[in-house]
Amino acid sequence: MVQLTIDGKKVEAREGMTIVEAAEEAGIHIPNLCYLKGMKGIGACRLCMVEIEGLKAPMTACTTKVKEGMSIKTSTPEIDELRRFVLDLILSMHPMDCMTCPKAGICRLQQYAYDYNVKESTYTRKLWGFQVDDKNPFIRREPDYCVLCARCVRVCREQGTKILDFMGRGVGSKVTTPNDKPMQETECTFCGSCVDACPVNALTEASKIDKGREWEFTKNDSVCTFCGAACSIKVSSKDNRIVKVTTSAPNYKHTAYICALGRYGFDYLDSPERLKTPLIKTNGQLVETTWDEALKTIAEAFKSSKDKTAIYTSGSILTEDAITIDRFASEVLKTTNVGSTVGIYADTNALITGVIDPNQIDLLLVLDLKVSQKGYVLPAIDAVLRRLVSAGTPLLSAGDESFADIASAHLKGSGLEALRSLIAFLCKEGVCKDAHLCKATEGAVIDEAVQKAGKLFMEAKNPLIITLPGLAEAASNLTLIKGELLTIPFEANAIGVALAGVAGSKTVLDQITKAKGIRALYVIGETTITARPNVPFMAVHTTHLDDLAKSADVVLPLTTPYESNGTIIRRGLRQKVVNQVIKPIGEARAPREAIEALAEAMGAEIKTARDSDIKRLLKVKWNHKPRPFEPRQDLEVDFKEIFTVVNRSMLSTQRIKWLREVKKL
Ligand code: SF4
Ligand code: SF4
Ligand code: SF4
Ligand code: FES
Repeated sequence: MVQLTIDGKKVEAREGMTIVEAAEEAGIHIPNLCYLKGMKGIGACRLCMVEIEGLKAPMTACTTKVKEGMSIKTSTPEIDELRRFVLDLILSMHPMDCMTCPKAGICRLQQYAYDYNVKESTYTRKLWGFQVDDKNPFIRREPDYCVLCARCVRVCREQGTKILDFMGRGVGSKVTTPNDKPMQETECTFCGSCVDACPVNALTEASKIDKGREWEFTKNDSVCTFCGAACSIKVSSKDNRIVKVTTSAPNYKHTAYICALGRYGFDYLDSPERLKTPLIKTNGQLVETTWDEALKTIAEAFKSSKDKTAIYTSGSILTEDAITIDRFASEVLKTTNVGSTVGIYADTNALITGVIDPNQIDLLLVLDLKVSQKGYVLPAIDAVLRRLVSAGTPLLSAGDESFADIASAHLKGSGLEALRSLIAFLCKEGVCKDAHLCKATEGAVIDEAVQKAGKLFMEAKNPLIITLPGLAEAASNLTLIKGELLTIPFEANAIGVALAGVAGSKTVLDQITKAKGIRALYVIGETTITARPNVPFMAVHTTHLDDLAKSADVVLPLTTPYESNGTIIRRGLRQKVVNQVIKPIGEARAPREAIEALAEAMGAEIKTARDSDIKRLLKVKWNHKPRPFEPRQDLEVDFKEIFTVVNRSMLSTQRIKWLREVKKL
């Protein structure tokens, strides 16, 4: 650690940190436009100039590293004057329309102009009249507002999409796409990372134009539950409608990312198919009914079916809902026919891994991961790993080509073969002394790439092995030598659902779809059950009137994760809070509310899931022990197959349909 003084305050900073980072951690804000947390400073805007004792000229705080004993002043009359001069220059080339600008209220240039009382530019104003790119439904690009900070270019480049770059030289340059084409004619994924990074109105969300001013929006942190990346999001809403979704990281951060689906998929909340009231089948038609009537009908069907009942749900329901489902199934229905989509690709063993400190990871080993931003397959995992590599963390890969382009060593063969080779090499080098592991990997191929990977693994203190649930058990063998394992589930709360006892398996699903010994079925949320099994009674608690709901005897309106409170459980058994950001639309209820009321209608009572119940689930421990070197073929399934089905209502909204057509998904 390094001791220094900033504005008279004694500050401790990690070696290698820049002044701007050290100040930020100490709660001191140094004005900046081009600095991006976690990314190398480029010293482009000159706004972060500070005075360092002993140095004649001011220095840029985003490129100067802290040194022991440094004494820094972030604001002096000279520094403030310098900042006024920089702002004056920028404003001479900036449209001064703060009164109507959509970014007003979150524009950093506007904030600094106010802070330094720069009302107008003293220079002759120059406006370029660049063309506006607004032919896609997601991002509006207005280069005239650009302050050339390069934040967008860097985030796009460092996450591997590499769409944006500069064209031209000096102040007249502009940020552009390949051949200056509209964004939809490029390989842009519309992730919007560039929008989150842009400090001004040069890049903004098309959806929020004319929907209100920034200060009118209510902003809540929550979680995107569309896929297993479970990205942190910030949701802006007004008049009980969502206006925009962004990453939740303050001042942006290189490990924060959300994809186009997480950012713009919220349209499904109030699409025409959204269910607002319960429905009951009468003379072959679904007609509106009350919650009481609907629950009474389900209760009677369940009671008369005795133990021949089943419940099926998805891995994106909240943990509190999963606990309630488990209680209802075991205490009231007394059935073992309970399961979820999690059982198709994982079980508890494949999901529970050790505790990881993301700040300590110094090597990534990526096995059979098959994630992709351009293919929209767990895109956040792809983007964040690429950004970590851009920031200097080495990566080893095997099993598929996704990361071969950025890997320090890409190993031949499957993830399993690479694991065996790596352990065999570590045994040969005497690093692995576990007789069981060395015997199990005897004869594995050790080529040049394996040797290089092995050496990097030996040098690393905290390697992180990342894979899909199917390879989790085999990959955990490597953690007996060093490092931690992270498995990426396909759905956001797969761990919470599995710990609550609702994971189920392919056998449970098979039993339900073939209606083996099942007389009454209750489906919650969008699952892989898309057609009614041959059961005498079926109730569906879901958000949209899809084909499955249309074939049900009773349909209950379900809240989306934006309309309910609760938690999900993530890697390292951390809880992530899902906050209600708008009131439920119509009469929609969360699964736990409906099930508690259903239990009551059946003359039973189940305890409401509490925090203490979740804490109890989290007591499960990850055991480091040798496991078979075999991939779990029973857990092998294509991510897209599941993702497309469990998100079918979100994927059929207008904007997302446009995206899927343009991207040929
Ligand atoms: S939306 Fe994403 S991929 Fe497209 S230019 Fe912006 S950062 Fe790059
Ligand atoms: S478009 Fe925005 S983020 Fe990109 S260089 Fe211009 S001002 Fe910076
Ligand atoms: S990567 Fe998955 S969790 Fe993250 S924003 Fe996209 S859909 Fe949501
Ligand atoms: S933030 Fe340091 S020069 Fe821009």
